Amino acid sequence: MNSKAFETQAIRLQTERSNHREHSVPIYATSSYLFDNAEHARALFAKEVEGNVYSRYSNPNNDEFVQKLCTLEGAEAGIATASGMAAMFISLASFVKAGDHIVACRSVFGSTHQILTQLLPRWNVSYTYVDGANMDEWEAAITPTTKMFFLETPSNPGLNVFDISAISEITHQHGILVNVDNCFATPYLQNPIALGADIVTHSATKFIDGQGRTLGGAVLSSKEVIEEVMFMSRHTGPAMSPFNGWVLSKSLETLAVRMDRHCSNALTLAKFLEDQPVVSKVHYPYLDSHPNMDLAKRQMRQGGGLVTFELKSGLEGGRKFLDQLSMISLSSNLGDSRTIATHPASTTHSKLTEEERNAVGIMPGTIRISVGLEHIDDIINDVEAALKD
Ligand SMILES: Cc1ncc(COP(=O)(O)O)c(C=O)c1O
Repeated sequence: MNSKAFETQAIRLQTERSNHREHSVPIYATSSYLFDNAEHARALFAKEVEGNVYSRYSNPNNDEFVQKLCTLEGAEAGIATASGMAAMFISLASFVKAGDHIVACRSVFGSTHQILTQLLPRWNVSYTYVDGANMDEWEAAITPTTKMFFLETPSNPGLNVFDISAISEITHQHGILVNVDNCFATPYLQNPIALGADIVTHSATKFIDGQGRTLGGAVLSSKEVIEEVMFMSRHTGPAMSPFNGWVLSKSLETLAVRMDRHCSNALTLAKFLEDQPVVSKVHYPYLDSHPNMDLAKRQMRQGGGLVTFELKSGLEGGRKFLDQLSMISLSSNLGDSRTIATHPASTTHSKLTEEERNAVGIMPGTIRISVGLEHIDDIINDVEAALKD
């Protein structure tokens, strides 16, 4: 099975059929599982035999979703979580104790920023932010208590691309884990573990679901690392619901075809925006003007489904643009089949100070477009009309 292509694995990896011979996997809506007898119960709890005990620990739908993701990411083991943030939190919290330290790229998602700057410090875990593109800063930030490097690439919403191999290289002699939030790229475009990272985290809510229906997340790594994360998850309970596991495993079946279209639509829109006189800057990893295009082309199979741009007219221009859109949705989600426009400064990144926003390239007039699967002509027509005075 492992020699088969990405698309095939995403479709054909499947939970063993029941005696009903169903073609499509059913939803295992059960909170617990039966033991054969007292000895079986004892052996399951003692982890002497494998099997399901309770859906906070494992469930066939979630296992299928995780098994697929592990295969697609090249990970040994994984765990599914109720949301992307549950994945981010347990992937960080499982490896730190009071006095420890985390180094992260400055441009992390808003809630990850809150975990690093507000929540973990309550337990005396400190952090240092670095410019993700500056290897000297990563190295200089290491202290004797540094346990993890955390990065997002491409980043939200600036679409900065950071060198996963080079960053991972720095940690090797220090025994520091490298954790990459691979939400924007998905396993179809980028595989951080193959590039040297230790942990891959996902918000499955985005492109993995792909239709804006469910929340979900995942942490993927070696068996040893996932054992630690599993301990945290079993006893704190951020488990994915079986229904969401079922939806997300089905979603993976179409990830490749969807991502191909997201990426081609996004590249076409990015090129269109570059030609618009009212636009001062367009950020897209596969544009010639992107500062790390060469790295993006080495590290990512395509440029992704997000485009960020800045309007010369700033905040007021940004608000006007959003209000003049007629088809494109105004929402804070991304990775949906429907194109979505977001104003990060007043929504997803509003908890950051203006100085912090500027440091990660979020200007008052920055607009993030999650480019959907509608026909590209309709997407461009809507954007073009909204750019007009
Ligand atoms: C890069 C990134 N990581 C994590 C998350 C959080 O995921 P969730 O909303 O599934 O908790 C998001 C949400 O937008 C995100 O963009």
